[in-house]
Amino acid sequence: MEQNGENLRPRPMSESKSEMIELVLPNDTNPLGALLGGRLMHWIDLAGALAAHRHSHSYAVTASMDHIDFLVPVHVGDMVILQSSVNRAFHTSMEVGVKVLVENYISGSRQKVATAYLTFVAVDRHGRKLEVAPAVPQTDDEQRRYEGALRRREASRNERERRKAARA
Ligand SMILES: CC(C)(COP(=O)(O)OP(=O)(O)OC[C@H]1O[C@@H](n2cnc3c(N)ncnc32)[C@H](O)[C@@H]1OP(=O)(O)O)[C@@H](O)C(=O)NCCC(=O)NCCS
Repeated sequence: MEQNGENLRPRPMSESKSEMIELVLPNDTNPLGALLGGRLMHWIDLAGALAAHRHSHSYAVTASMDHIDFLVPVHVGDMVILQSSVNRAFHTSMEVGVKVLVENYISGSRQKVATAYLTFVAVDRHGRKLEVAPAVPQTDDEQRRYEGALRRREASRNERERRKAARA
């Protein structure tokens, strides 16, 4: 595994915070004018990558995305806000949380649309894995997300092992 040089300095989780805003256009929707789930997953992937790049100061590839529940429908003309942040960095991988909100810009109200957790692996320009800096929680909320990330990593590893054994 390659070293990431001076990029290994521990960083506050908040340094990776990113926000992406999309206006839902007709090309993003089904014939009834509702946002396509696949388009939202694409935006979630991009929003997650922003936080992974900011934390690792490197390229990153998506290793996994957890299951996503779409809580409320989103329609053409809506404004979609995607907030992302690294929850925890391991060796070469990082868990990133993405929260998706829909904003009604007439009333100013916001509703939660979905939450997703993604794992990104830091790589160099040749695709070789890179070690990443620790992400340091500084608030109670960040500490909760930091601890949750370890639980989710263990649960998804167990699940991958279980599926592998079932295939053998
Ligand atoms: C993700 C990828 C880099 C892992 O490479 P690998 O050599 O198999 O990785 P390793 O087993 O050494 O694991 C490397 C890290 O990735 C994590 N990882 C690997 N597969 C994972 C998965 N399915 N989900 C979550 N984390 C995963 C490991 O836990 C490890 O984390 P750590 O270094 O922080 O402990 C590799 O499988 C890959 O390049 N996949 C394609 C990525 C891609 O193209 N994504 C875009 C979608 S098309």
